[in-house]
Amino acid sequence: MRIFLTGGSGVIGWLLVPALVAAGHEVTAISRRQDAADGLAAQGAQPVIGDVLDVDRLTDLVVAARPDAVIQHLTSLPQDLNPRDTKAAFARNDRIRSHGAGNLLAAAKAAGARRYLAQNVCFLYAAAGPSVVGEDAPLATDMPEPYGPSIRAHAAMEQRIIDSAELEGLVLRFGFWYGPGTTFAAGGYTARQVRRRRYPVIGDGAGVFSFVHVHDVVGATIAALAQGAPGVYNVCDDDPAPAREWIPAYARAIGAPAPRHVPVWLARLLAGPYVVTQATQMRGASNHKAKEQLGWTPKYASWRQGFVEALG
Ligand SMILES: NC(=O)c1ccc[n+]([C@@H]2O[C@H](COP(=O)([O-])OP(=O)(O)OC[C@H]3O[C@@H](n4cnc5c(N)ncnc54)[C@H](OP(=O)(O)O)[C@@H]3O)[C@@H](O)[C@H]2O)c1
Repeated sequence: MRIFLTGGSGVIGWLLVPALVAAGHEVTAISRRQDAADGLAAQGAQPVIGDVLDVDRLTDLVVAARPDAVIQHLTSLPQDLNPRDTKAAFARNDRIRSHGAGNLLAAAKAAGARRYLAQNVCFLYAAAGPSVVGEDAPLATDMPEPYGPSIRAHAAMEQRIIDSAELEGLVLRFGFWYGPGTTFAAGGYTARQVRRRRYPVIGDGAGVFSFVHVHDVVGATIAALAQGAPGVYNVCDDDPAPAREWIPAYARAIGAPAPRHVPVWLARLLAGPYVVTQATQMRGASNHKAKEQLGWTPKYASWRQGFVEALG
């Protein structure tokens, strides 16, 4: 297949490009940076320089690549996202995922692409109903700023993609990425916080997290090129788990001291309401649909094994 890839120089992109090339795909990968473009070329992609916010140039590049499929692995989030200071980071990310993704979708249609795959996350569900939910569960669109507006922007992006009549639009809602290059890697931001005992179990720690190893992110993306009806898919491992279980296990896996336990009122003061909601009320995601319809199975079925293998 001919593929036009965005985000090829990101955490997933660096793994995805060689995997796509090895699977026999012809990959055109866009970057704003010459150094990243050189790296993409070394991995076997055809690099092009451009910005998804520049709609005219983007459209020319996508049309020239004549892609069968377009992959949107765009983000603009810092590795060390401080939960007290998310407003500017979210605004940048929302712009890329709303405006940039809108431009990319329009360019894919102009180029006659048949399939469009987009990255999103499966940890934005509303704190209601069962502890592990499927794709039809409501999203937490009524959270306070900056989260609510950001989640609404992500929901609108998804709807535009899956409603596209001109192409098959699939949104892969990934769990928290872990593995090389991520914030959970041994040298990553989360690991540093946990080592300094700054990543506590908050309240009863009942918020359910869904994880996915970066190699499984790549595997699911490649599987979704060939299989799956238009729609949204949770892509995470088989073992969504509460914060009170995974934080101590993660600390052990990286050789860090056991986490502190802090009350909700203190965490709300120190880290803000969103972190507290995540830590105490977040819903996990079921990967049932992705396994059934994408023909994909996570190699790392549980973070319990994955943390030890990826981080030990
Ligand atoms: N599910 C999850 O857990 C999840 C999901 C998303 C992100 N994250 C986290 O967020 C952090 C950053 O993720 P990441 O590595 O993917 O981000 P990144 O390293 O910032 O990469 C983002 C990618 O998007 C491209 N991009 C951004 N803006 C663009 C624009 N205007 N035009 C064209 N391309 C553009 C970048 O291309 P160039 O810079 O080469 O132009 C780059 O390839 C990591 O810590 C990651 O773990 C986590």
